[in-house]
Amino acid sequence: MKVPYQPKTLRQIASVHGTPTYVYFEEIIRDRCRKLKDKVSLLPHKLLYAMKANYNPAILKIICEEGIGIDAVSIGELELAKRVGFAPEDVLYSANSITDEEMHTAASYGSLFNIGELYRLARFGEAFPGTDVCIRLNPKVGAGHHEYVVTAGEKSKFGIPMEYLPEALEIAAKHRLKIIGIHQHIGSGILDIADLWSAVEVLLEAAPNFPDLTFINFGGGLGIPYRIGEASFDYDGFQQVLIPRIKEWSEVLPQQLAFWFEPGRYFVAEAGTLLTEVTMLKQNGIGSRTFAGTNSGQNHLIRPMFYNAYHEIFNLSNPTGILYNYDVTGNICESGDRFAKDRPIQEIRVNDILAILDAGAYGYAMSSLYNLRPFPEEVLVRKTGEVEVVRKRVSPTSLIDQLLSETTD
Ligand code: LLP
Repeated sequence: MKVPYQPKTLRQIASVHGTPTYVYFEEIIRDRCRKLKDKVSLLPHKLLYAMKANYNPAILKIICEEGIGIDAVSIGELELAKRVGFAPEDVLYSANSITDEEMHTAASYGSLFNIGELYRLARFGEAFPGTDVCIRLNPKVGAGHHEYVVTAGEKSKFGIPMEYLPEALEIAAKHRLKIIGIHQHIGSGILDIADLWSAVEVLLEAAPNFPDLTFINFGGGLGIPYRIGEASFDYDGFQQVLIPRIKEWSEVLPQQLAFWFEPGRYFVAEAGTLLTEVTMLKQNGIGSRTFAGTNSGQNHLIRPMFYNAYHEIFNLSNPTGILYNYDVTGNICESGDRFAKDRPIQEIRVNDILAILDAGAYGYAMSSLYNLRPFPEEVLVRKTGEVEVVRKRVSPTSLIDQLLSETTD
């Protein structure tokens, strides 16, 4: 069983701040930023953070201090990146399915557009002829931990398919657009570097088609091991095989290029834990499974329900307890509201505090107000050990005040 980082600190936070609470460790975020920089250091590079994974401003500030830029996908993300202090040139705008209105608003932020549709490329060219642009390609190789997160290949809505390259070049020429970057993002939670390499190769081969090219962005998608013994993304292979191969290729390309990566999960997933309290134990008759109900649910961490994703669950209140099997459920009125099914966990008692691990990416960011239960609190543990509330818990009455202020006149 995976053991949480600093279990004593987590227990203290639960008793002082209550639950449900997301806890993030600054130290882990900085460590991942530095590790990735080191892994790609052989190449001229730029790293971006896909802020959709976790947009808490305190986390964004840490990432900004580490010299990493932003992959933004909406006006909201552009605005937040700007307010946190990211320079426009360190932000790439990779929104999909946007309106003309969004395109014009986004352009006012001064960041480079990454466009993955011929129609949008043409509209962009008409509106902003003669500007720089990056195009997102679909290398026809997709990968990821679940079909919903595969973002390239035949079935994906993302990117310009390679066979439409001549049309993309024609549109660019017509509007004097300078394609300074090409991009791909083939999926999320990639574990096999062979998948990544197949897609990387497609972009490297395509590079000579673009005379103005200054960079290739290989996207994000680097997986993390959610369970002990799980085959993890091969980070050593990434550093020792994939990066040197890109370097070798780059030496025969006509242009001097920089190579970009833009992970989300890798930087923050392992830094975050969701703390929740056990509210009930029940069985549906003798010999039935045991349900351990909690005060959180799919409204706070939807990954197990949405993707059948695995998150380790550790009983912080009984770390040495005997293992029994539980269905760990939430307090939302849906039968699928379940963090784990038939999972061995240290004996659970009512009021025990459970730690749901590796919840720093796509946890809070995908949470909702379903059933009108407020969002969890978010707490950041500084490198110094100092505990800071980085997003306050809102009471149900304040939540309803807010709702009524938005809906009544
Ligand atoms: N770049 C682009 C254009 C993306 O769309 C994404 C994620 C990333 C980078 C970062 O991918 P990462 O390194 O985090 O895998 N909610 C899902 C993941 C969806 C990812 C969407 N795009 C999950 O919880 O697994």
